[in-house]
Amino acid sequence: MKKDPINNHIQLNDSGKLIHLLGLEDLSKEHLLEIIDKADKLIDKNGNLKKSKALDDMSVANLFFEPSTRTRNTFEIAAMRSSANVINVDLANSALKKNEALMDTMHTLKAMQIDMFVIRHKQSGMPHHVAHHLDGVAILNAGDGTNAHPTQALLDMLSIRQHKPNFENLSVAIVGDITHSRVAHSNIQALKTLGTTDIRLIAPEGLQHDSARCEVVACFDDINKGLKDCDVIIVLRLQKERMIEADIPNEQEYFDHYGLTPERLALAKKDAIVMHPGPINRGVEIDSSVADGNQSIILQQVTNGIA
Ligand code: CP
Repeated sequence: MKKDPINNHIQLNDSGKLIHLLGLEDLSKEHLLEIIDKADKLIDKNGNLKKSKALDDMSVANLFFEPSTRTRNTFEIAAMRSSANVINVDLANSALKKNEALMDTMHTLKAMQIDMFVIRHKQSGMPHHVAHHLDGVAILNAGDGTNAHPTQALLDMLSIRQHKPNFENLSVAIVGDITHSRVAHSNIQALKTLGTTDIRLIAPEGLQHDSARCEVVACFDDINKGLKDCDVIIVLRLQKERMIEADIPNEQEYFDHYGLTPERLALAKKDAIVMHPGPINRGVEIDSSVADGNQSIILQQVTNGIA
């Protein structure tokens, strides 16, 4: 494997068009808005999704090496609604179990004339590695390790814009396990590109941001201070599968200090929206009454993911 596939990836062709979607780093504000606008046009005024012929005659393969409900099914439905043929590769029963190398599996699938691979992998940089070694196909990153979740960030930006059209005036609080969150990393990237300057990261010290990755954020360990007068609250799950033993907090203590309760939500602006990428852990990072409350747009995010 190339030493640093993440920082050496190429996803735009010479004309600036996307050939892969691996991360959001080299996408301009105009490019992000173009994608969000296209998605918006796939939703009618009643909030229903439209069908399209955008992927007519194309074949899409979903390869999810990590568990997923929201993203895997979103990609499957989106491919079907765009007129593509789609397969969910049964990785648990694949030749990988007979020690076939991942790239050999990829070449085998490509020989079946798959046009587009959607890859989720626990190792940061794996979709980039595949993109680097497999010509003539498109790779979409559906979440790689702690690195990036670009399509989650795109659907989150669409969801924010439906309620708060001007990114530059927004105060956005991201609460929870920032360290292990590819969602946080991609959302910070997208918000920065779209001009949001008030990005607040709220977390206990052990789960806080590595400030070397991004300087345009304010870090808080006191949730009450961090939420004050914000417009958007993005709540994150504790990603225990990516933690080491020492990182894992006591869930009750975590909820007591960082759980989004109605009392804490009241510190934000009255019309603040509550978001969560899912899966949600009720009573750990968010109170049920907030998750199901009238400021929550969590299920709207899921619908937008398909668009
Ligand atoms: N938001 C998200 O990535 O959820 P899944 O892990 O269920 O795909």
